Amino acid sequence: MQYSQKVLDHFMKPHNVGKIEKPDAEATEGSPACGDQVSIFMKVDPKSHVIKDIKFQSYGCASNIATGSIITDMAMGKTLEEAKDISWKEAAEELDGLPPVKMHCSVLAVDTLRKAIKDYEIKHNLSEADVFSKETIVEELKKVIYPKVGEDIVTLKMVKYVGFEDGIAIIDLEIPKFDKYRENVAEEVQEHLEQYPEIKEVKITM
Ligand code: FES
Repeated sequence: MQYSQKVLDHFMKPHNVGKIEKPDAEATEGSPACGDQVSIFMKVDPKSHVIKDIKFQSYGCASNIATGSIITDMAMGKTLEEAKDISWKEAAEELDGLPPVKMHCSVLAVDTLRKAIKDYEIKHNLSEADVFSKETIVEELKKVIYPKVGEDIVTLKMVKYVGFEDGIAIIDLEIPKFDKYRENVAEEVQEHLEQYPEIKEVKITM
C-alpha cells in the first residue's frame, strides 16, 4: 500500500498524542469498517469557544494515527464552529492523500472530532442531542466509504432508497453483482446503522 511521506511522518511522529486530564469535552469512536478506535480530548475557552488544547489516543492502524495527528493539528486554535467544518476529505488532502481503502480512517477521525464538539455543546447547553430521523440514516450512510475509489456511497449514488418505519431501516443499494466490495459495503452499512437504538432492524436490498 502506497502512503504519502506526510502520512508516514505523522504515523512515526504523531502530534498531540495523549490524554487531557479533566477535559472540557471528549469522545471515543470506533470504525465499523475495521474495529479500530480513536479518542479525542479537548480544552475549550468558555468565552471564545476556541479549542485551546486537543489530544488524541489511537487504537488503530497507521492511517488512524496519522489522521488523529492531522485532525488535532487542524482543529487546534479554531473555534468549535470552524472545527466542525473540517471534512474527512480536507483531512486526507492535508496528509497528501490516503489510499482509497484507508479513507475510512479519515472519516473516523473527523467523526470523533465532531462528537467531541457535540459533547462540549451538550454539556454547556449550546445545543441539544440530535433527534433521530431518516436524515440521521442518510448522514450515517455518508460515512460508509466504497473502498475501491475512496468516496462515500451517498456521493457515489450507490444508495437508491432509504426508508425508516416502525424501527425498521430499509436501504436499497446498487452495487454490481461481482464487485468484490459488495458484501463489505453491505456489512458496513449494517454495522453503522445497528449502533442506533432507534433502529430495531436493518433491511438491505441490493
Ligand atoms: Fe480502520 Fe484505519 S481506522 S483501518
